[in-house]
Amino acid sequence: MLEPQPLRVGVLISGGGTNLQAILDAVREGRLPARVVFVGADNAEAKGLERARACGVPTFVVPYREILARFAEDPPRAFPPPDFSLAAARARQRLRPGAGDPHLDRFLASRAAAEAELLAAMRPYPFDLLVLAGFMRVLTPYFIDRVNAGADPPRIMNIHPALLPAFPGTDGYGDTFRYGCKVAGCTVHFVDYGEDTGPIIGQRAFPIEEGDTLETVRRKGLEHEWRLYPECIRLYAEGRLRTERRVYELPGGRRLERTVVVVAPASPRAAEGGAG
Ligand code: GRF
Repeated sequence: MLEPQPLRVGVLISGGGTNLQAILDAVREGRLPARVVFVGADNAEAKGLERARACGVPTFVVPYREILARFAEDPPRAFPPPDFSLAAARARQRLRPGAGDPHLDRFLASRAAAEAELLAAMRPYPFDLLVLAGFMRVLTPYFIDRVNAGADPPRIMNIHPALLPAFPGTDGYGDTFRYGCKVAGCTVHFVDYGEDTGPIIGQRAFPIEEGDTLETVRRKGLEHEWRLYPECIRLYAEGRLRTERRVYELPGGRRLERTVVVVAPASPRAAEGGAG
């Protein structure tokens, strides 16, 4: 019987890339049946690029700051790609209230300009799963639809430094700590059209104890992330993830619809320690 091919994983980063390193280590140590086929960054200073190069992984940079500045100066010239539809992006996004707001339109159009360059940079490297590892840019429906192309499970994963749906945004550990929470954690989820709202794949929690500081919470959190992310990617590689639309009837005639991730049990062979 043919051995299954390793999952081809593309990674996007913005900074230090310790999650990227955890993924590279898991691959190298045989804990993750995957191959990292590229690492892309939104800025050339991202330290994680060095980690990728050290492992012989191809890298590229899509300079978001410059692209967005070009757009702000001269939108017609840096205008979104010809296949961008503002109406479609506006209808699909769930970023913030107020569709039709000119700032939202500008946001969607300018991001699409950058995302078109990102898609072009990724094109030479076929991949199965795109992993966001500290990629500090919101992705819009323009990009998400072109990567997912209707696939189930979806093809973009993110790690977030809080127990979603609490504390979305850029400073999950900070928000958790300052709120006075007694438990912190991290979440891996599929990316949907909102900000940190996609179906949850896995979470890890840990107590915040007397004497903890924001720094210790961040450090403990990152250590959990380094274990959680490879585990979730492994579930994907083993074909054990699918999404399911659930509908709930709530008191007062309210109806709640939510897409959730269903994790299939490990195959008996994998559970015995063989290949999945
Ligand atoms: C992590 O805390 C991750 O949850 C968040 O950004 C941070 C990235 O850290 N999205 P690193 O670049 O992987 O070290």
